[in-house]
Amino acid sequence: MPLTTPPLSLYVHLPWCVRKCPYCDFNSHEGKGALPFDTYVDALLADLDHDLPLAWGRTVHSVFFGGGTPSLFPPEFIDRILQGASARLRFAPGCEITMETNPGTAEHGRFELYRSAGVNRLSFGIQSFDDGCLQRLGRIHDSGEAEAAVKMAQDAGFDNVNLDLMYALPQQTLAMAEQDLERAFALQPAHISHYQLTLEPNTMFAAKPPAGIPDDDASWDMQEHCQALLAQAGYAQYEVSAYARPGRQCAHNLNYWRYGDYLGIGAGAHGKLTLGAEQAVLRRWKIKHPTQYLVQAGHAGAIGGDDRIEPERRPFEYMLNALRLVDGFTLGEFEARTGLDRGVIEPQLRQAIDTGWLVEDAAGRVRPTDLGRRFTNDAVALFLDS
Ligand SMILES: C[S@@+](CC[C@H](N)C(=O)[O-])C[C@H]1O[C@@H](n2cnc3c(N)ncnc32)[C@H](O)[C@@H]1O
Ligand code: SF4
Repeated sequence: MPLTTPPLSLYVHLPWCVRKCPYCDFNSHEGKGALPFDTYVDALLADLDHDLPLAWGRTVHSVFFGGGTPSLFPPEFIDRILQGASARLRFAPGCEITMETNPGTAEHGRFELYRSAGVNRLSFGIQSFDDGCLQRLGRIHDSGEAEAAVKMAQDAGFDNVNLDLMYALPQQTLAMAEQDLERAFALQPAHISHYQLTLEPNTMFAAKPPAGIPDDDASWDMQEHCQALLAQAGYAQYEVSAYARPGRQCAHNLNYWRYGDYLGIGAGAHGKLTLGAEQAVLRRWKIKHPTQYLVQAGHAGAIGGDDRIEPERRPFEYMLNALRLVDGFTLGEFEARTGLDRGVIEPQLRQAIDTGWLVEDAAGRVRPTDLGRRFTNDAVALFLDS
């Protein structure tokens, strides 16, 4: 089976935040003093130039500004990044361009300018609409500011808006988690991401867990009730934590979960590229620290590592992504994206189906069952070193 070239996305990492949240393990750094917006944009474009030979002639189908807090960057810098990127790579018509936004950084008049720069989707880090929860999470905004920021964006013409919510928060009850969703629905977003709070190693919460984190049973209860509320409100689940109105799934994240390709530029950004001529899959990541990245971008020194994914490792990588999706995958897609024959995963697939974790429908689509979704990690582990 030959590897075929999948759709290409572009991820741009903007690493600074107003303040580091105690639960967050993303590559995000408290910005002290004036941030070097201009030199960081130069560095991003030099970084892209350096990676371009990996993606000659290919079309970009989505762009995602992640962080960190991309909305700390004034619109003229987002504009310069997008102009620079589209001068180097062809953008598909209707290319989805998302920017993560912290409601605490929203400013009047900026959203219109982000739109004219080309951003057509905003993802707000809301987390909760309960002011007590927001305080315990160390957020820089309250619920009123969060609602006002979303409305400001909608007034500026953004109709494709995602709200990030977290549940199983310290001292949160089921009723509070449900109330968070009701307040989200009132804003009529196109998409809701609903994450269970996890205590990530190397965070302040892991070092000193806050009091009152719901136990596994209570968290499971919240997830089940919230899933039902989301469905009733018209948000269909399509991934472990992602819910969308019809036609509003996030194209960028879907490309990751379908084992698509992406260039990753910026401090600590990860990329994954299919190299057709070499029949290889390459993962590349950039050095994490913004100060060193600023110096090294555009040179080999900015590359944190390159990893060629040998054929034996591809089934596991593929399943790690595809089994997050409610709609799973087809065996044809598996073959095209991994360059492997479906026979390679036949025994593990059989085992997962016999255990009741996966089903294969008449059209050849393999998807996780309700049971399988409770045991995603075990199902994925079957495909280690196929
Ligand atoms: C990189 S953050 C970007 C949003 C923006 N920086 C903000 O916080 O407003 C992406 C999302 O991941 C989620 N997240 C971050 N840390 C998490 C954790 N430890 N457990 C669960 N979700 C988390 C939050 O919902 C957050 O909005
Ligand atoms: S604002 Fe977002 S990226 Fe920054 S520390 Fe908080 S959760 Fe992490």
